[in-house]
Amino acid sequence: MARTFVAQLDASGHQVPVRACLYEPEPPMWLFPSVGEYPLYDDFAYGKMLDDQARMARYAEAVRRYAPGRTVLDIGTGRDAVWALAAARAGASRVWAVEVIPESAATAREVIAAAGFADRITVVQGLSTEIDLPEPVDVCVSEIIGTLAGSEGAAAVLADARQRLVKPGGVFIPHRGVTTVVGFDLGRASAEPPGFPLFTFKYLEQMFAAVGGPFDPRVCLVGLQDRPEVQRRAYLSEAAEVEPLEFNGELCLGGVDAAEFVCTRAGRLHGLALGVRLWVAEGDEPLDSLVQASSWTPVYAPLSATGLPVRPGDRFTFEFSTALSDDGVHPDYALTGSLCRDVGPPVPLRWSSAHHRQGFRTDPFYRSLFPAA
Ligand SMILES: C[S@@+](CC[C@H](N)C(=O)[O-])C[C@H]1O[C@@H](n2cnc3c(N)ncnc32)[C@H](O)[C@@H]1O
Repeated sequence: MARTFVAQLDASGHQVPVRACLYEPEPPMWLFPSVGEYPLYDDFAYGKMLDDQARMARYAEAVRRYAPGRTVLDIGTGRDAVWALAAARAGASRVWAVEVIPESAATAREVIAAAGFADRITVVQGLSTEIDLPEPVDVCVSEIIGTLAGSEGAAAVLADARQRLVKPGGVFIPHRGVTTVVGFDLGRASAEPPGFPLFTFKYLEQMFAAVGGPFDPRVCLVGLQDRPEVQRRAYLSEAAEVEPLEFNGELCLGGVDAAEFVCTRAGRLHGLALGVRLWVAEGDEPLDSLVQASSWTPVYAPLSATGLPVRPGDRFTFEFSTALSDDGVHPDYALTGSLCRDVGPPVPLRWSSAHHRQGFRTDPFYRSLFPAA
Protein backbone atom coordinates (compact mmCIF):
# COMPACT_ATOMS: atom_id res chain seq x y z
CA MET A 1 0.00 0.00 0.00
CA ALA A 2 1.41 3.40 -0.93
CA ARG A 3 1.52 6.03 1.82
CA THR A 4 0.76 9.58 0.82
CA PHE A 5 1.13 12.47 3.20
CA VAL A 6 1.53 16.23 3.13
CA ALA A 7 5.08 17.49 3.25
CA GLN A 8 6.58 20.97 3.02
CA LEU A 9 8.41 22.03 -0.08
CA ASP A 10 10.87 24.86 0.40
CA ALA A 11 10.42 26.76 -2.84
CA SER A 12 12.44 29.98 -3.15
CA GLY A 13 12.16 30.61 0.58
CA HIS A 14 8.40 29.81 0.68
CA GLN A 15 6.97 26.75 2.40
CA VAL A 16 4.60 25.05 -0.05
CA PRO A 17 2.55 22.07 1.22
CA VAL A 18 2.66 19.21 -1.29
CA ARG A 19 1.13 15.73 -1.35
CA ALA A 20 4.09 13.38 -1.13
CA CYS A 21 4.35 9.62 -1.30
CA LEU A 22 6.88 7.18 0.02
CA TYR A 23 9.15 5.72 -2.62
CA GLU A 24 10.14 2.72 -0.46
CA PRO A 25 8.39 0.35 -0.81
CA GLU A 26 7.72 1.62 -4.33
CA PRO A 27 4.10 2.82 -4.70
CA PRO A 28 2.14 1.47 -7.69
CA MET A 29 1.96 4.88 -9.29
CA TRP A 30 3.63 8.17 -8.48
CA LEU A 31 4.11 11.60 -9.99
CA PHE A 32 7.16 13.24 -11.48
CA PRO A 33 7.12 16.87 -12.64
CA SER A 34 7.76 17.41 -16.36
CA VAL A 35 11.21 19.02 -16.07
CA GLY A 36 12.74 19.08 -19.57
CA GLU A 37 11.05 22.31 -20.60
CA TYR A 38 12.80 24.36 -17.86
CA PRO A 39 15.42 22.81 -18.86
CA LEU A 40 16.47 20.67 -15.87
CA TYR A 41 18.79 17.86 -16.86
CA ASP A 42 21.03 16.04 -14.42
CA ASP A 43 22.72 12.64 -14.19
CA PHE A 44 19.39 11.02 -13.27
CA ALA A 45 17.63 12.41 -16.39
CA TYR A 46 20.54 11.70 -18.78
CA GLY A 47 20.85 8.20 -17.30
CA LYS A 48 17.14 7.49 -17.91
CA MET A 49 17.54 8.49 -21.55
CA LEU A 50 20.59 6.27 -22.03
CA ASP A 51 18.66 3.37 -20.46
CA ASP A 52 15.78 3.79 -22.93
CA GLN A 53 16.77 1.00 -25.30
CA ALA A 54 14.09 1.61 -27.94
CA ARG A 55 15.01 5.30 -28.19
CA MET A 56 18.72 4.54 -28.31
CA ALA A 57 18.35 1.87 -30.99
CA ARG A 58 16.19 4.02 -33.30
CA TYR A 59 18.45 7.06 -33.01
CA ALA A 60 21.61 5.00 -33.48
CA GLU A 61 20.16 3.43 -36.63
CA ALA A 62 19.06 6.80 -38.05
CA VAL A 63 22.47 8.36 -37.38
CA ARG A 64 24.23 5.41 -39.06
CA ARG A 65 21.92 5.85 -42.06
CA TYR A 66 22.42 9.59 -42.60
CA ALA A 67 25.76 10.66 -41.08
CA PRO A 68 28.47 8.92 -43.20
CA GLY A 69 30.46 11.44 -45.24
CA ARG A 70 28.24 14.35 -44.15
CA THR A 71 28.46 17.35 -41.85
CA VAL A 72 26.27 17.02 -38.77
CA LEU A 73 24.79 19.33 -36.13
CA ASP A 74 23.73 17.73 -32.82
CA ILE A 75 21.36 20.13 -31.02
CA GLY A 76 21.22 19.43 -27.26
CA THR A 77 24.13 17.02 -27.22
CA GLY A 78 23.84 16.61 -23.44
CA ARG A 79 26.41 15.35 -20.96
CA ASP A 80 27.33 12.28 -23.06
CA ALA A 81 27.45 13.81 -26.58
CA VAL A 82 25.84 10.56 -27.56
CA TRP A 83 24.64 11.45 -31.10
CA ALA A 84 27.65 13.62 -31.91
CA LEU A 85 29.91 10.67 -31.10
CA ALA A 86 27.66 8.23 -32.98
CA ALA A 87 27.81 10.51 -36.05
CA ALA A 88 31.62 10.77 -35.89
CA ARG A 89 31.96 7.00 -35.44
CA ALA A 90 29.63 6.47 -38.42
CA GLY A 91 31.99 8.58 -40.56
CA ALA A 92 30.57 12.12 -40.44
CA SER A 93 33.14 14.50 -41.93
CA ARG A 94 32.58 17.21 -39.28
CA VAL A 95 30.24 17.48 -36.26
CA TRP A 96 29.06 20.46 -34.23
CA ALA A 97 27.58 19.57 -30.82
CA VAL A 98 25.55 22.37 -29.22
CA GLU A 99 24.47 22.30 -25.57
CA VAL A 100 22.91 25.08 -23.48
CA ILE A 101 23.69 23.74 -19.96
CA PRO A 102 27.30 24.80 -19.22
CA GLU A 103 28.15 21.78 -16.99
CA SER A 104 26.75 19.35 -19.59
CA ALA A 105 28.69 21.05 -22.39
CA ALA A 106 31.91 20.87 -20.33
CA THR A 107 31.41 17.15 -19.62
CA ALA A 108 30.59 16.51 -23.29
CA ARG A 109 33.90 18.13 -24.25
CA GLU A 110 35.78 15.81 -21.88
CA VAL A 111 33.89 12.72 -23.10
CA ILE A 112 34.65 13.60 -26.74
CA ALA A 113 38.34 14.19 -26.03
CA ALA A 114 38.57 10.90 -24.10
CA ALA A 115 36.99 9.09 -27.06
CA GLY A 116 39.60 10.60 -29.38
CA PHE A 117 37.22 12.70 -31.51
CA ALA A 118 38.18 16.22 -30.42
CA ASP A 119 39.56 16.91 -33.92
CA ARG A 120 36.22 16.14 -35.63
CA ILE A 121 33.60 17.24 -33.06
CA THR A 122 33.38 20.83 -31.83
CA VAL A 123 31.28 21.48 -28.74
CA VAL A 124 29.55 24.86 -28.73
CA GLN A 125 28.07 25.92 -25.41
CA GLY A 126 24.88 27.95 -25.83
CA LEU A 127 21.40 27.87 -27.29
CA SER A 128 21.21 26.66 -30.88
CA THR A 129 18.97 29.66 -31.60
CA GLU A 130 21.76 32.03 -30.53
CA ILE A 131 24.83 30.46 -32.11
CA ASP A 132 26.18 30.55 -35.66
CA LEU A 133 28.10 27.89 -37.59
CA PRO A 134 30.87 28.54 -40.15
CA GLU A 135 28.70 26.83 -42.79
CA PRO A 136 25.30 25.11 -42.92
CA VAL A 137 25.32 21.34 -42.27
CA ASP A 138 23.87 18.37 -44.18
CA VAL A 139 22.21 16.63 -41.22
CA CYS A 140 20.65 17.90 -37.97
CA VAL A 141 20.13 15.39 -35.17
CA SER A 142 18.35 16.43 -31.97
CA GLU A 143 16.46 14.89 -29.13
CA ILE A 144 14.60 17.84 -27.65
CA ILE A 145 11.26 16.03 -27.69
CA GLY A 146 9.34 16.60 -24.46
CA THR A 147 6.72 14.66 -22.54
CA LEU A 148 4.36 16.33 -25.05
CA ALA A 149 5.84 16.31 -28.56
CA GLY A 150 6.65 20.01 -28.71
CA SER A 151 6.86 20.92 -25.02
CA GLU A 152 10.66 21.40 -25.01
CA GLY A 153 10.44 23.80 -27.95
CA ALA A 154 11.32 21.43 -30.81
CA ALA A 155 9.14 23.33 -33.32
CA ALA A 156 10.71 26.75 -32.79
CA VAL A 157 14.26 25.43 -32.30
CA LEU A 158 14.25 23.20 -35.38
CA ALA A 159 12.49 25.81 -37.55
CA ASP A 160 15.34 28.18 -36.64
CA ALA A 161 17.92 25.47 -37.40
CA ARG A 162 16.35 24.86 -40.79
CA GLN A 163 16.47 28.55 -41.63
CA ARG A 164 20.02 29.29 -40.46
CA LEU A 165 22.07 26.19 -39.69
CA VAL A 166 21.07 23.42 -42.13
CA LYS A 167 21.48 23.31 -45.92
CA PRO A 168 18.30 23.45 -48.03
CA GLY A 169 17.16 19.83 -48.38
CA GLY A 170 19.19 18.78 -45.32
CA VAL A 171 17.94 15.83 -43.25
CA PHE A 172 16.41 16.14 -39.78
CA ILE A 173 16.50 13.35 -37.21
CA PRO A 174 13.85 12.82 -35.79
CA HIS A 175 11.54 12.80 -38.79
CA ARG A 176 8.12 13.47 -37.22
CA GLY A 177 6.37 13.64 -33.86
CA VAL A 178 2.83 13.99 -32.49
CA THR A 179 1.20 14.32 -29.08
CA THR A 180 -1.24 11.52 -28.26
CA VAL A 181 -4.36 11.76 -26.07
CA VAL A 182 -6.43 9.02 -24.39
CA GLY A 183 -9.32 9.17 -21.90
CA PHE A 184 -8.02 8.19 -18.46
CA ASP A 185 -9.59 6.66 -15.34
CA LEU A 186 -7.26 7.73 -12.52
CA GLY A 187 -9.09 5.64 -9.91
CA ARG A 188 -8.41 2.45 -11.86
CA ALA A 189 -4.73 3.30 -12.23
CA SER A 190 -4.12 4.08 -8.58
CA ALA A 191 -6.17 3.16 -5.50
CA GLU A 192 -5.24 6.44 -3.84
CA PRO A 193 -4.34 9.80 -5.40
CA PRO A 194 -0.69 9.57 -6.52
CA GLY A 195 1.85 11.93 -4.94
CA PHE A 196 5.41 13.15 -5.49
CA PRO A 197 8.22 11.02 -3.95
CA LEU A 198 10.47 13.15 -1.77
CA PHE A 199 13.40 12.91 -4.20
CA THR A 200 11.35 14.88 -6.78
CA PHE A 201 11.07 17.92 -4.48
CA LYS A 202 14.39 19.34 -5.68
CA TYR A 203 13.01 19.41 -9.25
CA LEU A 204 9.79 21.15 -8.12
CA GLU A 205 11.91 23.71 -6.27
CA GLN A 206 14.09 24.34 -9.32
CA MET A 207 11.06 24.65 -11.60
CA PHE A 208 9.35 27.10 -9.25
CA ALA A 209 12.60 29.08 -9.04
CA ALA A 210 12.91 29.08 -12.86
CA VAL A 211 9.49 30.72 -13.32
CA GLY A 212 9.60 32.94 -10.20
CA GLY A 213 7.19 31.11 -7.87
CA PRO A 214 4.90 28.09 -7.39
CA PHE A 215 2.63 27.07 -10.28
CA ASP A 216 0.69 23.98 -11.40
CA PRO A 217 3.35 21.94 -13.22
CA ARG A 218 2.64 19.29 -15.84
CA VAL A 219 2.75 16.02 -13.91
CA CYS A 220 3.92 12.71 -15.35
CA LEU A 221 2.39 9.38 -14.33
CA VAL A 222 5.19 6.97 -13.41
CA GLY A 223 4.21 3.30 -13.18
CA LEU A 224 1.92 3.06 -16.22
CA GLN A 225 4.26 2.19 -19.06
CA ASP A 226 5.59 -1.08 -17.69
CA ARG A 227 2.13 -2.26 -16.59
CA PRO A 228 -0.02 -3.23 -19.60
CA GLU A 229 -2.71 -4.55 -17.24
CA VAL A 230 -3.04 -1.07 -15.68
CA GLN A 231 -3.16 0.51 -19.15
CA ARG A 232 -5.95 -1.90 -20.09
CA ARG A 233 -7.99 -0.82 -17.04
CA ALA A 234 -7.22 2.89 -17.04
CA TYR A 235 -7.07 3.89 -20.73
CA LEU A 236 -10.68 4.44 -21.76
CA SER A 237 -10.11 4.93 -25.50
CA GLU A 238 -7.69 4.56 -28.37
CA ALA A 239 -5.27 7.46 -28.77
CA ALA A 240 -6.11 10.60 -30.75
CA GLU A 241 -3.19 12.48 -32.36
CA VAL A 242 -2.64 16.25 -32.09
CA GLU A 243 0.27 18.70 -32.45
CA PRO A 244 1.80 17.13 -35.59
CA LEU A 245 5.45 18.17 -35.99
CA GLU A 246 6.89 17.47 -39.45
CA PHE A 247 10.60 18.02 -38.94
CA ASN A 248 11.38 17.23 -42.60
CA GLY A 249 8.31 19.03 -43.92
CA GLU A 250 6.04 21.97 -43.15
CA LEU A 251 6.79 22.74 -39.49
CA CYS A 252 4.00 24.69 -37.73
CA LEU A 253 4.94 26.73 -34.66
CA GLY A 254 1.40 26.63 -33.29
CA GLY A 255 -2.19 26.05 -34.23
CA VAL A 256 -5.45 24.38 -33.32
CA ASP A 257 -6.09 20.68 -33.98
CA ALA A 258 -9.63 19.31 -33.95
CA ALA A 259 -9.69 15.71 -32.72
CA GLU A 260 -11.85 13.16 -30.96
CA PHE A 261 -11.74 9.80 -29.25
CA VAL A 262 -14.45 7.26 -28.71
CA CYS A 263 -14.54 5.36 -25.41
CA THR A 264 -13.83 1.67 -25.83
CA ARG A 265 -14.54 0.63 -22.24
CA ALA A 266 -16.71 1.70 -19.33
CA GLY A 267 -15.13 3.68 -16.51
CA ARG A 268 -14.88 7.16 -15.04
CA LEU A 269 -13.24 9.87 -17.08
CA HIS A 270 -11.11 11.80 -14.57
CA GLY A 271 -8.85 13.28 -17.20
CA LEU A 272 -6.53 12.53 -20.07
CA ALA A 273 -3.20 10.79 -20.40
CA LEU A 274 -1.03 12.53 -22.99
CA GLY A 275 2.04 11.04 -24.61
CA VAL A 276 4.39 11.21 -27.56
CA ARG A 277 4.64 9.25 -30.79
CA LEU A 278 7.98 9.74 -32.48
CA TRP A 279 9.11 8.57 -35.91
CA VAL A 280 12.88 8.86 -35.57
CA ALA A 281 13.56 8.26 -39.28
CA GLU A 282 11.29 8.16 -42.31
CA GLY A 283 9.69 4.72 -42.67
CA ASP A 284 10.28 3.77 -38.98
CA GLU A 285 7.62 2.39 -36.67
CA PRO A 286 6.98 5.13 -34.10
CA LEU A 287 8.11 5.08 -30.49
CA ASP A 288 4.94 5.45 -28.39
CA SER A 289 5.24 6.69 -24.80
CA LEU A 290 1.64 5.82 -23.80
CA VAL A 291 2.12 2.10 -24.33
CA GLN A 292 5.87 1.36 -24.31
CA ALA A 293 8.51 1.54 -21.61
CA SER A 294 10.13 4.88 -22.40
CA SER A 295 12.10 7.77 -20.96
CA TRP A 296 9.14 9.98 -22.00
CA THR A 297 6.46 9.55 -19.33
CA PRO A 298 2.71 10.13 -19.88
CA VAL A 299 1.36 13.50 -18.68
CA TYR A 300 -1.88 13.66 -16.69
CA ALA A 301 -4.40 16.38 -17.65
CA PRO A 302 -7.14 16.54 -14.98
CA LEU A 303 -10.69 17.22 -16.21
CA SER A 304 -13.08 16.04 -13.47
CA ALA A 305 -12.29 15.43 -9.77
CA THR A 306 -14.97 12.78 -9.27
CA GLY A 307 -14.75 11.29 -12.77
CA LEU A 308 -17.58 11.30 -15.31
CA PRO A 309 -19.09 7.85 -15.92
CA VAL A 310 -18.53 6.77 -19.55
CA ARG A 311 -19.50 3.74 -21.61
CA PRO A 312 -18.21 2.28 -24.87
CA GLY A 313 -19.30 4.51 -27.76
CA ASP A 314 -19.28 7.76 -25.73
CA ARG A 315 -17.39 10.40 -27.67
CA PHE A 316 -15.06 13.22 -26.60
CA THR A 317 -14.57 15.86 -29.31
CA PHE A 318 -12.02 18.54 -28.62
CA GLU A 319 -9.77 21.30 -29.90
CA PHE A 320 -6.14 21.19 -28.85
CA SER A 321 -4.32 24.47 -29.22
CA THR A 322 -0.60 25.11 -29.19
CA ALA A 323 0.71 28.69 -29.02
CA LEU A 324 4.29 29.82 -28.45
CA SER A 325 4.70 31.38 -25.01
CA ASP A 326 6.33 34.79 -24.75
CA ASP A 327 9.79 33.18 -24.51
CA GLY A 328 9.37 32.41 -28.23
CA VAL A 329 10.33 28.72 -27.82
CA HIS A 330 8.15 26.81 -25.37
CA PRO A 331 4.46 26.29 -26.20
CA ASP A 332 1.44 26.96 -24.00
CA TYR A 333 -1.23 24.28 -24.40
CA ALA A 334 -5.03 24.46 -24.05
CA LEU A 335 -7.80 21.99 -24.71
CA THR A 336 -11.56 22.59 -24.85
CA GLY A 337 -13.90 19.72 -25.50
CA SER A 338 -17.31 18.22 -25.14
CA LEU A 339 -18.15 14.76 -23.80
CA CYS A 340 -21.21 13.31 -25.55
CA ARG A 341 -22.72 10.32 -23.78
CA ASP A 342 -25.75 8.26 -24.72
CA VAL A 343 -27.71 9.94 -21.92
CA GLY A 344 -27.78 13.57 -20.82
CA PRO A 345 -26.52 16.75 -22.46
CA PRO A 346 -22.92 17.14 -23.68
CA VAL A 347 -20.52 18.02 -20.86
CA PRO A 348 -18.03 20.82 -21.61
CA LEU A 349 -14.51 20.11 -20.33
CA ARG A 350 -11.30 22.10 -20.48
CA TRP A 351 -7.62 21.89 -19.54
CA SER A 352 -4.75 24.31 -19.99
CA SER A 353 -1.06 24.19 -19.25
CA ALA A 354 1.08 27.22 -19.93
CA HIS A 355 4.86 26.98 -19.85
CA HIS A 356 5.53 29.71 -17.28
CA ARG A 357 2.38 31.79 -16.84
CA GLN A 358 0.34 29.01 -15.29
CA GLY A 359 -1.72 29.72 -12.13
CA PHE A 360 -1.26 27.86 -8.85
CA ARG A 361 -3.87 25.47 -7.34
CA THR A 362 -6.16 26.22 -10.29
CA ASP A 363 -8.38 23.13 -10.03
CA PRO A 364 -9.34 20.42 -7.53
CA PHE A 365 -6.53 18.09 -8.69
CA TYR A 366 -3.83 20.69 -8.06
CA ARG A 367 -5.53 21.94 -4.85
CA SER A 368 -5.34 18.39 -3.57
CA LEU A 369 -1.72 18.01 -4.76
CA PHE A 370 -0.71 21.33 -3.17
CA PRO A 371 -3.10 21.67 -0.20
CA ALA A 372 -3.54 25.17 1.29
CA ALA A 373 -1.23 25.79 4.27
C1 LIG B 1 16.48 15.28 -23.92
S1 LIG B 1 18.13 15.81 -23.66
C2 LIG B 1 18.99 14.87 -24.89
C3 LIG B 1 20.43 14.57 -24.59
C4 LIG B 1 21.11 13.69 -25.65
N1 LIG B 1 21.14 14.35 -26.94
C5 LIG B 1 20.41 12.35 -25.80
O1 LIG B 1 19.65 12.18 -26.76
O2 LIG B 1 20.56 11.49 -24.92
C6 LIG B 1 18.03 17.42 -24.37
C7 LIG B 1 19.27 18.27 -24.20
O3 LIG B 1 19.14 19.38 -25.08
C8 LIG B 1 19.55 20.57 -24.42
N2 LIG B 1 18.87 21.65 -25.18
C9 LIG B 1 17.54 21.82 -25.32
N3 LIG B 1 17.28 22.82 -26.19
C10 LIG B 1 18.49 23.27 -26.63
C11 LIG B 1 18.88 24.28 -27.56
N4 LIG B 1 17.97 25.01 -28.23
N5 LIG B 1 20.19 24.49 -27.76
C12 LIG B 1 21.11 23.75 -27.09
N6 LIG B 1 20.80 22.78 -26.19
C13 LIG B 1 19.50 22.54 -25.98
C14 LIG B 1 19.16 20.33 -22.98
O4 LIG B 1 19.89 21.14 -22.10
C15 LIG B 1 19.48 18.84 -22.82
O5 LIG B 1 20.82 18.65 -22.44
